[in-house]
Amino acid sequence: MTLTLRTYPDPVLLKKSAPVEAFDDALRERIAEMWEVMYEEGGVGLAAPQVGWSVQLLLMNPTGSKDDRSGERVVINPQVVKSWGKAKDQEGCLSFPDILVDVTRKAGVRLRWQDEHGETHEEDVNEFPARIVQHEMDHLEGVLLVHRMSPVDRIRYRHELEELKATLAAKAE
Ligand code: CO
Repeated sequence: MTLTLRTYPDPVLLKKSAPVEAFDDALRERIAEMWEVMYEEGGVGLAAPQVGWSVQLLLMNPTGSKDDRSGERVVINPQVVKSWGKAKDQEGCLSFPDILVDVTRKAGVRLRWQDEHGETHEEDVNEFPARIVQHEMDHLEGVLLVHRMSPVDRIRYRHELEELKATLAAKAE
């Protein structure tokens, strides 16, 4: 299976995804393919629904660089145990090319998740990684940048959003 990036308003992006239950080689092979897609597209994070796979799985690497993979994490079945503070910053999304909007998120979260072998981890995540995690966890719930942007940004980007809809409709024909 070759995974390809899905863009708004692909229906898979709007679905709530299912938990991962089998931590097997097939899972790990797909994760390897997802890393390829993420680096090819120049992302710092990628959620499984963005490649048409409706499961609770996300990848992140705050450097976004294949040459610095020290910050790579495979985050499966994530839960926010607690959170603190607020932070507003600019955010983009591979599924919304050419759109950048201010989004207010929690400043930090205590994250519990499983890795690709099914091991459970818990860690406090702050700053940019916290923003990535919250953005990608939104994807697992079918919540997108378009749902988080202000009414002013929705007007500002209405042309881009219409273009995305038209592109997807043309592909479907
Ligand atoms: Co996104």
